[in-house]
Amino acid sequence: MLTPKPIVDKLNEQIANEFHAAHNYMAMACRFDALGLKVLSEWFFRQGEEERDHGKRILRYLLDVGADVHLNAISEPTGNLSDPVSIVQSALNQEEQVTKQIHDLVAMAEEHKDFATRSFLAWFVDEQVEEVATMTELLQMLKLAGDHHLLQVEARVARMMETPQAKP
Ligand SMILES: [Fe+2]
Ligand SMILES: [Fe+2]
Repeated sequence: MLTPKPIVDKLNEQIANEFHAAHNYMAMACRFDALGLKVLSEWFFRQGEEERDHGKRILRYLLDVGADVHLNAISEPTGNLSDPVSIVQSALNQEEQVTKQIHDLVAMAEEHKDFATRSFLAWFVDEQVEEVATMTELLQMLKLAGDHHLLQVEARVARMMETPQAKP
């Protein structure tokens, strides 16, 4: 099975996109820690680990189909880290951007009749629906909490972390 070169290139790019998302989540986690929001910090560290797993999943796929893996440079973290709402808004923007990247990849796989890659990407399509929904909920929650009820958000996120499938 030969994966078309433009798709291999795009998948290699996506590995770096996922690792960059991990990098951003790590920076967000550090900022939450500095703000004294330790539970949110831990949750964002976990998100960072998940993004690394996403990158690795793509890397594994390329190895499985016998394609070359090329690890691109990861740029510095981006995003507005000034306050909790801005951090989560940046995280949501990132998830929406990654969703678009995944959808572009799916469209490309279909265009090339690369059904193996199309099938591989289905997991990512579903994952992005989940991630955007979760981040949207967290953003709403933080907006409702304002500056004075952030510890309530922490308590809810802590509960969510005890039951991995639960949302905030
Ligand atoms: Fe991801
Ligand atoms: Fe994500």
